[in-house]
Amino acid sequence: MAKDVVAILGGTGDQGLGLAYRFAAAGRPVRIGSRKEDRARAAADQVRERFGDADLAGFENAEATRAAAGGIVIVSVPFEHTVGTVKSIRDALEPGTVVVSMGVPLATAVGDVAARTIGVSQGSCAELIDSLVPDDVPVISAFQNVAAHRLLALEEPVECDVIVSGAKAPRKRVMDLCDDIPGTRAIDGGPLYNARYVEQLTALMIGINIRYKLREGTGLRITYI
Ligand SMILES: NC(=O)c1ccc[n+]([C@@H]2O[C@H](COP(=O)([O-])OP(=O)(O)OC[C@H]3O[C@@H](n4cnc5c(N)ncnc54)[C@H](OP(=O)(O)O)[C@@H]3O)[C@@H](O)[C@H]2O)c1
Repeated sequence: MAKDVVAILGGTGDQGLGLAYRFAAAGRPVRIGSRKEDRARAAADQVRERFGDADLAGFENAEATRAAAGGIVIVSVPFEHTVGTVKSIRDALEPGTVVVSMGVPLATAVGDVAARTIGVSQGSCAELIDSLVPDDVPVISAFQNVAAHRLLALEEPVECDVIVSGAKAPRKRVMDLCDDIPGTRAIDGGPLYNARYVEQLTALMIGINIRYKLREGTGLRITYI
């Protein structure tokens, strides 16, 4: 079966670019999105330098969303820019497209530290996004516990489980993305409601990274499954 096309909004940043490299390495079509088309194209060129025959292109965010119609659109911008970004692409979302929330409501959004979070009235970044997109566009939560430095260390596997939450059929499509990233394992995280717990874990992991001086970041494993 053909792989879903993936658009990564804010794919010019560390986390989105890391995913772009990993998906391109696995032969998955990738559309990098940015507020500026030239930045998106430059990021796509950067990935193509490494994976010359990859199916890659860069677009302004709404165009990247259209270019992945029926596929998967990952929102990879800092939490405080989630609402503006999702509103800017809302009209470009077509039924059948799955939106992935990867954001964490870190307290850096209000000038506090990254090892804490702020409250989100919808319960989580994922549920906030769900409140913004059309009803026929499912939102799935994933990849919040994966560290950008680990994604970008292309010679190494990413030792991390990925808890994937949301409606069953689109959840399965997003779980399949983990097959592209050596070392990751998708864990069925049940309904989207559970995104709130997964997002909070990232703040805990950032605190652990700081205490153990692990700049590259820690990973998460659920054992005995
Ligand atoms: N970094 C990690 O290790 C990590 C781990 C787990 C989850 N995450 C989550 O992944 C997401 C991206 O993280 P990141 O570290 O890659 O973030 P980042 O580098 O700070 O930003 C990602 C992109 O967001 C876009 N952006 C910046 N300001 C914006 C604004 N005002 N409006 C709209 N877009 C804006 C930029 O793209 P353009 O300027 O090209 O538009 C930027 O390249 C975040 O939600 C984060 O919580 C990150």
